[in-house]
Amino acid sequence: MIVAPSILSADFGNLEKSFKKVSSAKWLHVDVMDGHFVPNISIGPVVIKGLREYTKQVLDTHLMISDPEKYAPEFVKAGSDRITFHIEAVEDPYGLIDKLRELNVSVGISIKPNTSVNSIRELIPLIDQVLVMSVEPGFGGQKFMPNALDKISELSELRKLWNPELLIVVDGGINETTGNMCKEVGADVLVAGSYVFNSENPEERINSLL
Ligand code: DX5
Ligand code: ZN
Repeated sequence: MIVAPSILSADFGNLEKSFKKVSSAKWLHVDVMDGHFVPNISIGPVVIKGLREYTKQVLDTHLMISDPEKYAPEFVKAGSDRITFHIEAVEDPYGLIDKLRELNVSVGISIKPNTSVNSIRELIPLIDQVLVMSVEPGFGGQKFMPNALDKISELSELRKLWNPELLIVVDGGINETTGNMCKEVGADVLVAGSYVFNSENPEERINSLL
């Protein structure tokens, strides 16, 4: 199991202190929001660049933006190791996958709570991870939506045939209970924001999800 603390819930007034507390995590999940694809604005490539200089942890970048074709390369240049875009935001997912492959970055596709696994079925052999949103994207601290569990099970069946290496990532409302539920049905990566950072002991929270 990989735990990816979502830095959206970190203390932006003292990022270094926040990051030190999650240094045991293999991945850091970075939420990019443009105020258009989602009703919130977060961070851009400059923060990724700063993070890249600070840590060797895998920077897992979740693009919640309307024009990933235009901006994804900037995030790669800034130092992202993995780029996940939303299927709902693109017209030509094949084109964007090719473009990202050329840039030598791992590729993920995310689906919102009302988007079916079926909508990305044919893309499964071409990508490294699927990110199942278990809340409406845009904000941390929301309640886990259980329909994500069916999608994780479905993906876990599909990958057997089409892409055994595919990582199933789940994002939104993850805590010890929901994390276990996701694990049981086949999730490989748990993204957790408020559960990890809104604690005196983030390390302990990370360990509770492993
Ligand atoms: C929501 C983001 C999540 C968010 C998760 O749009 O994609 O990564 O930070 O936060 P929690 O774990 O608090 O639900
Ligand atoms: Zn996210």
